[in-house]
Amino acid sequence: MSKPTALITGASPGIGQELAREFARHGHGLVLTARREERLEALAEELRGKVQVTVIPADLGRRKGARRLLADLDDHEVEVGILVNNAGVAASGPFQSMDGRTARNLMQVNMASLVELTQGVLPAMLARGRGRILNVASVAGFQAVPGIALYSATKAFVLSLSESLAEDLKGTGVTVTALCPGPTRTDMIADIEPLELAGPFMTSAREVAQDGYRACLAGDVVRIPGLANQAMVTWLQYQPRGLVRWFSGMAARSTFGAKRPGAVAGRTTQDGRQEGS
Ligand SMILES: NC(=O)c1ccc[n+]([C@@H]2O[C@H](COP(=O)([O-])OP(=O)(O)OC[C@H]3O[C@@H](n4cnc5c(N)ncnc54)[C@H](OP(=O)(O)O)[C@@H]3O)[C@@H](O)[C@H]2O)c1
Repeated sequence: MSKPTALITGASPGIGQELAREFARHGHGLVLTARREERLEALAEELRGKVQVTVIPADLGRRKGARRLLADLDDHEVEVGILVNNAGVAASGPFQSMDGRTARNLMQVNMASLVELTQGVLPAMLARGRGRILNVASVAGFQAVPGIALYSATKAFVLSLSESLAEDLKGTGVTVTALCPGPTRTDMIADIEPLELAGPFMTSAREVAQDGYRACLAGDVVRIPGLANQAMVTWLQYQPRGLVRWFSGMAARSTFGAKRPGAVAGRTTQDGRQEGS
């Protein structure tokens, strides 16, 4: 029996690209999506010798982006067996200085489109009695993170939604996994210099993808790549919330403090688009 096809969002660079390579290595057909079609095509070219790959560009920052993507999947008659909600946008700096467009884009990509895609593929998975959903959250979802308040709130949303759904869907054959990476070397954090000091917490996109693939196929509910990140999250969970906020604020000020107000992590521009590298 052929392996289920994986739809991977945000597959152009970073963790999504490595997830695509990992799923292909294990023989899964792929649907790759993001805005930068040429990057998707280059990856598809690399992987087509191994598995069948379909490229469907989509802008998940648009209100109708997820709906259009679901319609395109129908047109291509693709049966999505595994949904990987990986696309994400980050923004740092004072909350009050962030323009509305950037904030809306962040919430649309990180939360609303993820919800819509999940609702779009779930009924068919339930009817088949099998399916896997892998949502890329973050260690930032476990606690308040001053300096990246809106981003960390969206990741708390993804983590909470994933855990609730995992429990709701028990016994249906469909599993939901929240993958919670710590700082990972990708374009998203390339501009944040103090993160070079993140040392033991830093992981590579490849390690995250390998861990994410294993957790997804095993149906694990929460997976934190890297021992240092696991230890930190465990330690934080046993501390008073006030202490965690203080600790988190200290770390955030040393990380994001040097950036100008409203500056945006990665390459997100004022209109909410990410510039390529
Ligand atoms: N890097 C880290 O330290 C870290 C840590 C924890 C969690 N994460 C999470 O990991 C996931 C992947 O991030 P990454 O680090 O690999 O960052 P990345 O290299 O910047 O990749 C982000 C991906 O999201 C896609 N994307 C952004 N806006 C989009 C839009 N409007 N429509 C469709 N796709 C869009 C991008 O593709 P296009 O620009 O081509 O559209 C790209 O493929 C994100 O959910 C992120 O929050 C990252």
